[in-house]
Amino acid sequence: MSVTDRLDDKSLFRTDSFIDGQWVSGEGGVDVLNPANNAVIATVGDVGEAGARKAVAAATRAFESWKKVSPFERARLLMNWYKLIHENAKDLATLITLEMGKVHKEAQGEVIYGASFIEWSAEEGKRVHGETLSTPFPSSRGWTIRQPIGVVGCITPWNFPNAMITRKCAPALAAGCTMVIKPAPETPLSALALAELARRAGIPDGVFNVVCGDAPAIGGVLTSSSDVRMVGFTGSTAVGKLLMKQAASTVKRVALELGGNAPFIVMDDADIEKAADGVIASKFRVSGQTCVSANRIIAQPAIADKLVAALEARISKLKAGDGFASDTDVGPLIHMTAVSRVDKLVSQAREQGARIVTGGKSLADELGGSFYAPTLIDGADPSLDVSCSEIFGPVCSVYRAESEADIIKLANDTPYGLAAYIYTNDVGRVHRLSEGIEYGMIGINAPMVGAASTPFGGVKESGIGREGGKWGVEEFTELKYVLLGGVEG
Ligand code: SIN
Repeated sequence: MSVTDRLDDKSLFRTDSFIDGQWVSGEGGVDVLNPANNAVIATVGDVGEAGARKAVAAATRAFESWKKVSPFERARLLMNWYKLIHENAKDLATLITLEMGKVHKEAQGEVIYGASFIEWSAEEGKRVHGETLSTPFPSSRGWTIRQPIGVVGCITPWNFPNAMITRKCAPALAAGCTMVIKPAPETPLSALALAELARRAGIPDGVFNVVCGDAPAIGGVLTSSSDVRMVGFTGSTAVGKLLMKQAASTVKRVALELGGNAPFIVMDDADIEKAADGVIASKFRVSGQTCVSANRIIAQPAIADKLVAALEARISKLKAGDGFASDTDVGPLIHMTAVSRVDKLVSQAREQGARIVTGGKSLADELGGSFYAPTLIDGADPSLDVSCSEIFGPVCSVYRAESEADIIKLANDTPYGLAAYIYTNDVGRVHRLSEGIEYGMIGINAPMVGAASTPFGGVKESGIGREGGKWGVEEFTELKYVLLGGVEG
């Protein structure tokens, strides 16, 4: 029976959380809505503070044995999980589109992207090495070892309800940590499905726990319990700051993947058609609801009007609709509050004299879900909210700047520093601009930067730490230094 068939069988989602290898029911119920039509697709109960404490206790017990399992055996179990995810990719993608609206082919891509972190981490876990060190004393020897940090609390977002769990959990599990995951209330189903597949893969009880329910109560336990040694979070900068404050009381390590306000710089030597394609790929993926989404298109004046025309031609043709429809380019936003927020940003820009080149309105009444028209703005003042805030919707604006110094200044004029994009064919400009702008990831003539093998993360208020590659595994380890004296006897 497929997930879509089972959705008619309300018993599928009667369980709420996965703790210590058991399905655990919670109190009451939070409805999970399909943003394409606002229909209730499941109801998930709240295990609250007590459930979170139970999960932390289970993860603490499980850590004692999991940390001693050989990295080769951990890799074998992770690869079982990877294979099961591939075997169930169709159902997992269906869940993603149902619970957060993403265009179905993007959801299919997310499942494969998510699984790639498991494959990479399973291998990389075998390469967690220490080093031998020189010491000032002839009679001593020094070396380092890397050990798993311990129990990790993960608070994951709704925009990638599958891949943001695997991107955190796979390296942590490979390094020997155990996990308590708190998924976004909008998208618990993908997390619970991953838990079921982890169970079938043979990952031992207590190693991978998913707790659903009241965010402040569960987040409070994860950030304050002294048994939790690290908190990983993907989400807004405002919530990241709060979690960081809470985690300070027990001096936990934090890994924060926070907001962005990506500049997309187009120089006058760039291929304008390719740059316009790049903006579409970066901006309208997940309806603009990614942290790495191009928000501010900064063009040199000589090519700016041509770029605006190329973007208008593409954006005006994008079709908004249900993520399951084969002709949909842009799905719904996560909920109506997001539609109102985006509309407010666009209305303010319009009132302040910016030109709405295309789009600029809610499509909620027209399409019956949380839809917003793909929108291009020209001439918005850089001080407006649409220029300064993380838009998280299908809206971008074009700005003009001539000199490299002004381009760098405009690109850096934000507290964020996650992803940036530069389109140019001049190698000197590639170096000067990529060294001058303050971002953790930079795509040159490339609109997408994430991969299992590369470091994902930001600078400034976009976060702390890196996910992916060898850096992603290292985040979940402690470096220990050992000194041996009396070697010469
Ligand atoms: C994000 O927006 O949080 C993740 C995007 C990505 O991995 O490409």
